[in-house]
Amino acid sequence: MTSSLAQPIALPCGSTIPNRLGKSAMTEGLADKFDRPTQRHNTLYKTWSKGGTGLHITGNVMIDHRYLERAGNVVLETDKDLNLFSSWAEAGTCAGNQLWVQLNHPGRQCPKIVNKQPLSPSDIHLELLGNFGKPKAMTEDDIQDIILRFTKSAGLVKKAGFTGVQIHCAHGYLFSQFLSPKINQRTDQWGGSLENRARIIRQTIKSVRKEVGPDFPIGVKLNSADFQKGGFSLDDCVTVAGWLGEDSVDLLEISGGTYEQLSLIGVEPTEVRESTRKREAYFIEYASRIKTAAKIPLMITGGFRSREVMEKAIADKEVDVIGLARPLCTQPNCSEKLIDGSIDRLDDYEQGLVLGKGFWGNNSSSNLIKAINNFGQVGFYYWQIIRLSQGLNPEPELKVFRSFQRHMRNDFKLNMKRKFA
Ligand SMILES: Cc1cc2nc3c(=O)[nH]c(=O)nc-3n(C[C@H](O)[C@H](O)[C@H](O)COP(=O)(O)O)c2cc1C
Repeated sequence: MTSSLAQPIALPCGSTIPNRLGKSAMTEGLADKFDRPTQRHNTLYKTWSKGGTGLHITGNVMIDHRYLERAGNVVLETDKDLNLFSSWAEAGTCAGNQLWVQLNHPGRQCPKIVNKQPLSPSDIHLELLGNFGKPKAMTEDDIQDIILRFTKSAGLVKKAGFTGVQIHCAHGYLFSQFLSPKINQRTDQWGGSLENRARIIRQTIKSVRKEVGPDFPIGVKLNSADFQKGGFSLDDCVTVAGWLGEDSVDLLEISGGTYEQLSLIGVEPTEVRESTRKREAYFIEYASRIKTAAKIPLMITGGFRSREVMEKAIADKEVDVIGLARPLCTQPNCSEKLIDGSIDRLDDYEQGLVLGKGFWGNNSSSNLIKAINNFGQVGFYYWQIIRLSQGLNPEPELKVFRSFQRHMRNDFKLNMKRKFA
């Protein structure tokens, strides 16, 4: 029997994704010192393209070089080096899959070393390990500039030869900050009611659609919730999903959490329901409400690891595209293998990437150990991406403390390289 994961899916704009597996965005940290894509992007995405995943979404690409999610991000704001983007697009679609660029503005989640005064809807400081500056509350001009920048970058994405674009509205970055009543405390037309808080996203999509035309796929990544008291809630998400469906969005990807609440990679929110704990895919229990409201194809990302759960989600029409991220770092061809039935489960290294298991205890409350575990886990995946980008095999035996050290060293180097460019 052919796997339900093998079925193509047509998007409202008329474009087709060749199967039901989507690689969700993962920041690569591979840009050169001028924030441009390199040969390493081409090698990485060629490997991923050949691995059978129908839709690939790049790591977040910035729309403004002054504000990055991290050093090593690619920036796309002019057509100056568009040939480099075209090479990336060509390499990453060599097997006939789709390759979309995720466009992002970090807002207040921009490290201090990149910019001491980031932008945000209001001046609410993200106080996390002293890593972020107090943001400036955006002016009307700043807001209009952001809409224009997303629009221009989306036009360049199309011109370079990518097959679609995704606007990042999740994980606590700028658009997600606008949606959150906790962070967006504006009293003008961009804050207050949900309609006002979502206005910048809807206006951006309208403007991007005008720029790229009716046939080009536009995706949005949205939080099911921020999982923080007073933040963006599931009810808010359902309402916004309905609006995005009316706004010519082709694929809605659902995730959750922010830097302060890492539910996107499975760190459980305190108020998580028992039923969620037992489920493999973190956000799937919200799928039917969101899908009913949005009436557009839905991708859910976070925690999918077994073929059985993925096939059931597609067969039950709960989800249209299964979003995968971390497994693709150690198994770049896992989609092909899931579809042909040669594997039933994906790698799940995150479970073992815990410092002090059995010594300090699994639930150590030390902030230092928590930080090492969090940075070490992310560092593990960054390291696999670096290996793939060099044409090397993954190195899954890497331990959490070593991953942490490598990540810190690499991050320092990326920051210095850029600083002295
Ligand atoms: C190394 C790494 C980098 C990530 N970078 C991004 C990113 O640039 N944009 C984004 O929307 N999500 C990013 N994410 C989140 C993933 O897209 C995904 O939502 C999350 O890993 C859960 O999916 P998974 O359980 O299949 O890994 C990143 C995750 C990891 C592990």
